[in-house]
Amino acid sequence: MTVLVQKELIAVGEYRPISSVWEGNDGELIENLLQFYASIPPEPILDATYNRGRFWKGSSRNVVSMDINPKFEPMIVGDNRVMEGVPDAAFGAVVYDPPHVGPQGRDKSSKKFDEDFGATVACGKEHDWSLSYLYPPFLAQAKRVLKPEGLLLAKITDMVNSHRAKWSHCDFMRMADDAGFTVCDLIVKIRTGPMVSTKWSTAHHARKRHCFWIICRNSSRCER
Ligand SMILES: C[S@@+](CC[C@H](N)C(=O)[O-])C[C@H]1O[C@@H](n2cnc3c(N)ncnc32)[C@H](O)[C@@H]1O
Repeated sequence: MTVLVQKELIAVGEYRPISSVWEGNDGELIENLLQFYASIPPEPILDATYNRGRFWKGSSRNVVSMDINPKFEPMIVGDNRVMEGVPDAAFGAVVYDPPHVGPQGRDKSSKKFDEDFGATVACGKEHDWSLSYLYPPFLAQAKRVLKPEGLLLAKITDMVNSHRAKWSHCDFMRMADDAGFTVCDLIVKIRTGPMVSTKWSTAHHARKRHCFWIICRNSSRCER
């Protein structure tokens, strides 16, 4: 009955929800998020962790690329916790896909993995084995460079480090709220075939097949 009611509403165009679970790729999801949540024109968009720009393959969006690693040749080589030279209230949306794990081992192949996926940031005892310390200074800058009502879209993955579950997405949501954003939604993105290492012998945790996309608005409310 509920489904029928929803279908009827969708058919007449009055109720068009976005699903809380996403099984496609990130680029398609970002486009859906921009169309669903934007209450001001979302461009220009700042991708604050551009890497190879996989999110924007086939997209015609006006994207300004930033990365701390010059190897990826972003428009702005810089630390997104500082955003030196980036003007206030310049962007309709900021996209953030920070490193999700710390450096993975010491051999050559894992070093390439580290660079390609941004896993080069310290994540040891001094940071309580977590990467969440990256978020508050980034969030302060994201708030500064976003226009009022602009969107912050963040891809966050939880991790297990030093034998403990680290709930990065909880940290991010709390810290975004503390930074003055309204956290609008949490979308679970599902993927197939999670990585498994031959070094692991005993499973202590669920093998993650998902990450989160967190949608925040630079406003005191979510609804458009
Ligand atoms: C997970 S990758 C991003 C992948 C990217 N979304 C893509 O689709 O290709 C994380 C990126 O963040 C960058 N990064 C890490 N810390 C940064 C910082 N403080 N400021 C700017 N970029 C940073 C890394 O160099 C890396 O390229």
